[in-house]
Amino acid sequence: MRLGYKARKRASVKEKSAAICLALGDKSVVLIGLMGAGKTAIGRRLAHRLGLPFVDADSEIERAAGQTVGDIFAEHGEDYFRDGERKVIARLLDAGPQVLATGGGAYIDPQTRRAVAKKGISVWLKADLDVLLERVKRRDNRPLLKTGDPKQVMRKLMDERYPIYAKADVSVQSRNVAHGTIVGEIINALHESLLRQRTPKAD
Ligand code: S3P
Repeated sequence: MRLGYKARKRASVKEKSAAICLALGDKSVVLIGLMGAGKTAIGRRLAHRLGLPFVDADSEIERAAGQTVGDIFAEHGEDYFRDGERKVIARLLDAGPQVLATGGGAYIDPQTRRAVAKKGISVWLKADLDVLLERVKRRDNRPLLKTGDPKQVMRKLMDERYPIYAKADVSVQSRNVAHGTIVGEIINALHESLLRQRTPKAD
C-alpha cells in the first residue's frame, strides 16, 4: 500500500524525531531568542513531538525564587535576576535530555553560552520586529519593556543580541504560521545539524 503525502510526512517526522533523540543522548534542545519569539509555546509542542520533557527556565527561576520575574527585577534588580538565571540554567542543563526554553537574555551570558554549547544544541527562534512587538503587546509581564518605548527597547535588543544569537547551532524563522509548521522546520534543522555531527560552537 502506498502512503499518502500526509502519512509519509508524519512517518518522516517520526523517524527524524527518533534519530534526533538518539543523537542527543543526554543533551538538551535549548531554545533561544528575543521575547515574543515563541520559545515557550513552540518549545512545548516541539517537546511533545520529540517525546521529551519540556522545561521553561523562567518558570523554574520563579519557582526557585518564590517570586515572579517582574518582582525579582523590581525588588532585587536585573543583575540579581541574571545570577539566578545562570545558576538555574546550569542546573537544568545537567538534567537532559529535554527541551529547554530560555529567557531572552540567558544566551547573552558567556558562561551560559558555554554550558549550552557543552550540554545542549541551541536553536535560535529568529523573528522580525513587527512579529515580536505584536506578540509582546499581549502581556504585561516583561520588565525590560517597561524601561522605555517597547519598540525602541526591542530594536536596541535586536541590535545587541542578534549577532550573539547567531552563534546558535541552528536557526529557524519564527513567524505567524501554525506552530506545527515551525516545529517541523526545527525538527528538520536539528536532524540535519545533529547528523552532520558538527562540533558545538562556544562563544
Ligand atoms: C528577558 C526575557 C524574559 C525574561 C526577562 C528578561 C530578556 O523572558 O527572562 O524578562 O532579557 O530578554 P522571555 O524571553 O521568555 O520573554
